Amino acid sequence: MKNLKWWQKTAVYQIYPKSFMDTTSSGTGDLKGITCKLDYLKKLGIGAIWLTPIYPSPMVDNGYDIADYTAIDETYGTMADFEKLIAEAKKRDIKIVMDLVYNHSSDKNKWFIESKSSKTNPKADWYIWRDAKADGSAPTNWRSIFGGSAWQWCEERGQYYLHTFAVEQPDLNWENPEVRQALFDAANFWLEKGVGGFRIDAITYIKKPKNFVDGEPDGKDGLVAVHAMTANTEGILDFLHEFKRKVFDGHDIFTVGEANGVEANELKYWVGKDGVFDMLFEFSHMNLPFTNGEIWCYSREWKLTELKKALSDSQQATKDNGWYPVFFENHDQPRCINHFLPKNSDPIKAAKTLATILLTLRGTPFIYEGQELGMTNVAWDSIDDYNDIQSHGQYNFALKEGFSPEQAMNFVHFFSRDNARTPMQWDNSKNAGFSKGKAWLPVNENYPEVNAEVEDKNSDSVLNYYRKLINFRADNEVLTAGDYEEFLKDDERIFAFVRSVQNKKIYVLANFILDEVNFSAEILGQSKFIFGNYENNVKGTLKPLEAVIYEEA
Ligand code: GLC
Repeated sequence: MKNLKWWQKTAVYQIYPKSFMDTTSSGTGDLKGITCKLDYLKKLGIGAIWLTPIYPSPMVDNGYDIADYTAIDETYGTMADFEKLIAEAKKRDIKIVMDLVYNHSSDKNKWFIESKSSKTNPKADWYIWRDAKADGSAPTNWRSIFGGSAWQWCEERGQYYLHTFAVEQPDLNWENPEVRQALFDAANFWLEKGVGGFRIDAITYIKKPKNFVDGEPDGKDGLVAVHAMTANTEGILDFLHEFKRKVFDGHDIFTVGEANGVEANELKYWVGKDGVFDMLFEFSHMNLPFTNGEIWCYSREWKLTELKKALSDSQQATKDNGWYPVFFENHDQPRCINHFLPKNSDPIKAAKTLATILLTLRGTPFIYEGQELGMTNVAWDSIDDYNDIQSHGQYNFALKEGFSPEQAMNFVHFFSRDNARTPMQWDNSKNAGFSKGKAWLPVNENYPEVNAEVEDKNSDSVLNYYRKLINFRADNEVLTAGDYEEFLKDDERIFAFVRSVQNKKIYVLANFILDEVNFSAEILGQSKFIFGNYENNVKGTLKPLEAVIYEEA
């Protein structure tokens, strides 16, 4: 067996604490809720939990607006609850991974409150402040990721500040060494608590360009996406090398950066022997519907060959150097069944098809809460039913671009981040067993059939299929360490690849369409059918949405 690290052999489970399990009837999930579900996660077979932010926050962006980097938000519990979670997880050989949101803080963070108070206070330079243009307007025409200008006027200080995301999320000034040190100290604080790693948020935005200039407008609002003007600015890796040196090095942890905008051919700068992280979430496969930045109303149709190419390029780019985090869902994305498979797909077959690929590609699989149950998107009637700040921004933007309210709602139905944030479906009691109070976000109506309790008892459920795959992968050198090679590359119906270590081979094939398809059985050589999402398989044929695993020893 190749010498792999613990985090290369395990699967990671992502928890959105707000929606996972509420033990106080507040309507919001909490840390005790996570602790009480550790046995469920152990049985699933995962070895690490990535928690989205649990720090004190005004929750404008559900915790991605941090008011204090070294404390726990009281709606989630106390530091003692967190320590208990780490200890209980450890007993089960599960590590806890924290989310570091270091591009920006909350505007209620004491650092920002001090920074905005004058141009001369000790933290005056901790955020990105600029004077207005001569006519009083914003310093540049950049549009924030959540919509509207990326600049906010601050009366108190008489200047604008930059916010790549919401107005309440001012960008930190990484050029200032004191800011970097304060952020590194906070990460070290969590390492001392015994965390097993970090997911580092929105990292491509931390370095700003030298000169702030207007860009060519890309919308009727006369603005240009901030992403196009600031993402991945030269010099960014210097900051991150310092971060690695001062925080990550020497610990038995993993780090995974969130790096929208990084392409497969750039991965070598980010991961591997000269890189800064162990893994990098790049979004080439998730962003297929987008033509220019994440603008929902200008989304497009995409082909299976594009999805296969995106995934295969990342597999190849991390073949000899670096490691890949395989993911089809997170708290910002539609549910994968809705995202990647045809509209009228049988949800159970669909969930299992994607699971088969997720758990057999090369890299560490990341499973998002509820994905293992086959949870799906929701579609609420009115924009007022949605909590997600980005959904509101995109809805308003679509209206301004001239789309009708119905069209704008269709975009929200498909892309809203609330699709992934509806409460976890535990059983068929009130609120799917998530909360005895009023859930902060409505539960998906399909909870009586799609829930952990029902699926636990059904040997044919999505949940039991995930358990089987996770186990199969964990014990299998070919799947954890083996090479990856795609075949049937130009096929628009079938995703097919082979994993191999010397003479041992595992073939994975998945039919992405709703018709039966045929291919030449010779491709599979002498290999034997192991399992798939139908009971049996006829070599050379795939039923609608069928996924199969063949093995040659
Ligand atoms: C990342 C997070 C997302 C958040 C944004 C701003 O993309 O995943 O949820 O809104 O950063 O912090």
